[in-house]
Amino acid sequence: MRRDIQNGQRGGTRSIHHAMATLNRRRLLQGLAATAAAGVLPTAATASQSSLAFADVKHGLDDRHHVAAGYDVQVLIRWGDPVLPGARPFDAQNLIADDQLLQFGYNNDFIGYLPLPAGSGSSSHGLLGVNHEYCSSELMFPPYEGQHRDAWERHKASIEMAAHGFSVIEVRRSGRTWQVVEGSRYARRITATTPMWVSGPAAGHRRMRTAADPSGGRVLGTVSNCSGGTTPWGTFLSCEESVEDYIRGDTKALPDAALYARYGIREKSLFNWGVLDRRFLLKEEPNEPNRFNWVVEIDPYQPSAAPVKRTALGRFKHEAANVVVAPDGRVVVYMGDDQRDEYIYRFVSKGRFDPRDRNASARLLDEGTLSAARFDGDGTLTWLPLVHGQGPLTAANGFADQGDVLINTRRAADLVDATQMDRPEDVETNPVTGRVYVMCTGATRDAKKLNPANPRTPGTYGHVIELMPPGEGVQADHTAPRFRWDFFLLCGDPRESADVAQFHGATGPDGWLSSPDNCVFDSKGRIWMATDGMSYRKKQAEGLYAADTLGPGRALTRHFFRAPAGAEVCGPCFTPDNETLFLSIQHPGEGSKLPNPSTRWPDFKDGMPPRPSVIAISRKGGGTIGS
Ligand code: FEO
Ligand code: CA
Ligand code: CA
Repeated sequence: MRRDIQNGQRGGTRSIHHAMATLNRRRLLQGLAATAAAGVLPTAATASQSSLAFADVKHGLDDRHHVAAGYDVQVLIRWGDPVLPGARPFDAQNLIADDQLLQFGYNNDFIGYLPLPAGSGSSSHGLLGVNHEYCSSELMFPPYEGQHRDAWERHKASIEMAAHGFSVIEVRRSGRTWQVVEGSRYARRITATTPMWVSGPAAGHRRMRTAADPSGGRVLGTVSNCSGGTTPWGTFLSCEESVEDYIRGDTKALPDAALYARYGIREKSLFNWGVLDRRFLLKEEPNEPNRFNWVVEIDPYQPSAAPVKRTALGRFKHEAANVVVAPDGRVVVYMGDDQRDEYIYRFVSKGRFDPRDRNASARLLDEGTLSAARFDGDGTLTWLPLVHGQGPLTAANGFADQGDVLINTRRAADLVDATQMDRPEDVETNPVTGRVYVMCTGATRDAKKLNPANPRTPGTYGHVIELMPPGEGVQADHTAPRFRWDFFLLCGDPRESADVAQFHGATGPDGWLSSPDNCVFDSKGRIWMATDGMSYRKKQAEGLYAADTLGPGRALTRHFFRAPAGAEVCGPCFTPDNETLFLSIQHPGEGSKLPNPSTRWPDFKDGMPPRPSVIAISRKGGGTIGS
């Protein structure tokens, strides 16, 4: 979801000068050189230095999608398509909640793929887990002009609540074509009203209890599910980003006013669900906000198992939660808090992953150490533990227990002096090198608040940071207290000196990007980055870009896919054989409204609104994507 877009203005000459001075170009270049493979340094910058074998899609902006030559795009499932048995065909002119509860939700974001049968590694049969982050209501409903405004608001809220959450669909490929399996026993819709458990140190905490749930351990629903992750034991992690879009109220006179303020709760919210459900009104349930902004674990192989909110992973605007197993078997989760000046987090489990014991794995995310990241100018990254009783995290500062630390993770990270970032989105490990990549999507940064890891003002084009744990590949020690770090990309147009962008010298005029958001790695360790914000900042459609991370083609980004007008690209996800790439095309037509949307993608039929959809990309004739 796009935020902060009004902050897209460029800084003046003075701030550019400041950025140039602040950014340690020498270290940036050293980083580029030091990681070139086996002493092969780029002598002349040529595009052939990339291992990627497709030509750039052109930058531009229109109502269609565009993919690199030699590839096919299939629309797999759209908003309103059937998920559960009994779902009626989509009827854009007559939306009702009972239909939406059985149909694919709105604004698909994260996509995870797990094979069927479980553990088989199949690349032609599996389960897709998909987030439905929010609703672009102005593209679902025409403007209401009737006399029954209250009834209309309740009707609209009921559909929106049913269109949020998560879908599980079973998918199968025959030949080059993917199909959603009808009547699958795994098919599932999770919405803003689905009952779920709370686990970990904040479960049952006094700040988690409500009139409707005195136990503080049983929440209804999940909202603002942005990106996520897939665990080695075969579950999906779905991340709750923005509770302030759902719960509203006057916070000033309430005892926890500072806590609400730190999480953005205010009198106005994007959605008006209090007309239907009292828990979205702060004055009715003052602890309800504390029951969101968590990571939710969903077991798609057990369709009747309730989702679980894992509080040990902290409470903030969770973008994604990417899991890697450390050499000693402990499980590490990397996470970003997607807001300007917020932080990057790491969770290290106490227990160790045992591939033979799935039930034990289900508890790994309930006990461990959450830390926030501090970046120093000498290239050191330090993980600062957020543990009750340690340092400033004591009763004197308002933390009575670890539950308090987790419910107000943001303040805990403030107090340990973590580094404020330019909106951290995805944080993901390269499975080949063991290095970890942070997508900072960009944010306007005051020249007085520059720091070593966020060195530009304007910083609105975003950047990609590379974290280097000790050790390499599967031996990388993701549990270490200190890593090294460097820049991988400084986004923007490398031909515009004002952008202070940094890419490989051979990056083409259509190959650069801004506003990196989600990423994924292919099995060769190449990074694939999706954008969200480039259309506002650079008047170019959002897209998907790939690059080598090592060797002579390091940071030579290539433009693989371009989205239709208004859409963000998210959820990039490969099948294990890398022959299919699933993408989420979210909010096509954003910036326009019914009855005149800027695109009617993907159906292009009169009267049909644009529909967020999951697409499957494959090579014509088959083969590995990218090469
Ligand atoms: Fe939903 Fe962080 O973008
Ligand atoms: Ca985003
Ligand atoms: Ca995102």
